[in-house]
Amino acid sequence: MKIPEQVRRLGLVIGIIVVGVLGTRFFLIPRSLISDELHQASTVQREVAKPVKFAGSSTCEGCHEEVSGRVRKGYHKNLMCEGCHGAAARHAEDPGQGKPFAPRDRKFCPVCHSYDASRPTGFPQINPTAHNPVKPCITCHNPHDPVPPKTIEACSACHPQIQRTTAVSSHALLKCTTCHVVPAQHKKTPRSALPSKPEGREFCGTCHAKGATERDAPKVDLSTHGGRFLCWQCHYPHLPEGRG
Ligand code: HEC
Ligand code: HEC
Ligand code: HEC
Ligand code: HEC
Ligand code: HEC
Ligand code: HEC
Ligand code: HEC
Ligand code: HEC
Repeated sequence: MKIPEQVRRLGLVIGIIVVGVLGTRFFLIPRSLISDELHQASTVQREVAKPVKFAGSSTCEGCHEEVSGRVRKGYHKNLMCEGCHGAAARHAEDPGQGKPFAPRDRKFCPVCHSYDASRPTGFPQINPTAHNPVKPCITCHNPHDPVPPKTIEACSACHPQIQRTTAVSSHALLKCTTCHVVPAQHKKTPRSALPSKPEGREFCGTCHAKGATERDAPKVDLSTHGGRFLCWQCHYPHLPEGRG
């Protein structure tokens, strides 16, 4: 029986395609392009060849025993050293190569501590624009053992609002007793012995007048600023910047 011409041609075309595909597959495309094993092996090689950047907190402990001891006992015990200081394997191997970064800027801590409703309840959160603005967080909180500073004590038992207000103001580091002379009796029978209150503009001037020695306090010209009014007719002394 004679095979029809068109079927033979079709067979020839299919034959060429099959030979072409097989030829390309096995001879023209290099194995490295299609082999999973080669791919995996070279990826592993590439990753292993990368320099190690993180040393791990236990490595730091060897040389920074005192800091590590403090961190492990404080509120930041679960944080990695390098979570704040950045990758420091090179430093750990050869401290002469330069110091690791230390996040002294005020912008850093709010990454974890600014108020965010999605954080777990009870996680210590603050509003960075209202919470003791201006100064870096580390002037008041040791980053390795961050306890809120306890400048204010017994008074908070009975004057909690004033204590809370002052604690987030720019007067946070002043003791209540900087401005009030408090007889011991006041804490037992408060109304029988009231503390003093500042009397005149000069009192605030001891820190705020031009030429006053308190370095951190912003200065005003006492003879013109605020006219003849008492300072606290305009500035609430427990939140002098006037927020809230
Ligand atoms: C082999 C010992 C050694 C190891 C390990 C080591 N350090 Fe240090 N580190 C030093 C020395 C030495 C200095 C320099 C002290 C100086 O110059 O005052 C230093 C300084 C620092 C400083 C100070 C930077 C500054 O601005 O003052 C930081 C932060 C620091 N190391 C973090 C780390 C961290 C994080 C690790 C762990 C990944 C680590 N170190 C591991 C020896 C070491
Ligand atoms: C919450 C962030 C944070 C963590 C966690 C942290 N540090 Fe620091 N560290 C800082 C900051 C901020 C400074 C700069 C302090 C300053 O200048 O007063 C600093 C300073 C240092 C210094 C130099 C000054 C000093 O106090 O001796 C060393 C050394 C250091 N850190 C090591 C470590 C080690 C080791 C760990 C882990 C056990 C660690 N730090 C964990 C934020 C952190
Ligand atoms: C990686 C996240 C992280 C960073 C960055 C961080 N903290 Fe913390 N902080 C924590 C955790 C976690 C706790 C412990 C919370 C707890 O015990 O429930 C904590 C606790 C605190 C507390 C204790 C609050 C209390 O309950 O009395 C203070 C204060 C604090 N941090 C200040 C800082 C300061 C200042 C910095 C910047 C140097 C900083 N934190 C950076 C995670 C962080
Ligand atoms: C002028 C000093 C001062 C500065 C600067 C300061 N704080 Fe505080 N911080 C305090 C005092 C005081 C308290 C305790 C106040 C209170 O209990 O309401 C406190 C409390 C906290 C708490 C605990 C809040 C809670 O709910 O338990 C956190 C977290 C905190 N500060 C983080 C920061 C961060 C982050 C910064 C920098 C953006 C910062 N603080 C800057 C004085 C300061
Ligand atoms: C046992 C509770 C208690 C303690 C502790 C306490 N106070 Fe008072 N304080 C009072 C009471 C009650 C008054 C009277 C309020 C009134 O009459 O409106 C008062 C009034 C005051 C006044 C206003 C005085 C005036 O002439 O209006 C000042 C200022 C004051 N206290 C400061 C302090 C300071 C600072 C401390 C901490 C050293 C402190 N108090 C501790 C309960 C207390
Ligand atoms: C910078 C100085 C200063 C500091 C610090 C200060 N006070 Fe006062 N306080 C004043 C002045 C000024 C007044 C009087 C305000 C007035 O008469 O309007 C006053 C008034 C008061 C009063 C009377 C009620 C009121 O609100 O006017 C109480 C109570 C009081 N202070 C408690 C405290 C406590 C508690 C602290 C510490 C948390 C504190 N003060 C810190 C300056 C200060
Ligand atoms: C013992 C010194 C001292 C006394 C007394 C004092 N202050 Fe201050 N005050 C400071 C310091 C320090 C700052 C700045 C803190 C900062 O910027 O972190 C400040 C900040 C201020 C600010 C600026 C707030 C801002 O951020 O713009 C005002 C306003 C102010 N005080 C008013 C007063 C008044 C009113 C009195 C008197 C009732 C007074 N102060 C008494 C030390 C003092
Ligand atoms: C009539 C109202 C008024 C009186 C009274 C007043 N102030 Fe002010 N004070 C202001 C205003 C408004 C500002 C903010 C605008 C500015 O900087 O002039 C200010 C700003 C300040 C600042 C911040 C300056 C700075 O550079 O950040 C300080 C500190 C200050 N006052 C202290 C005082 C002291 C101390 C007294 C009492 C001797 C006083 N003020 C009396 C209205 C007053």
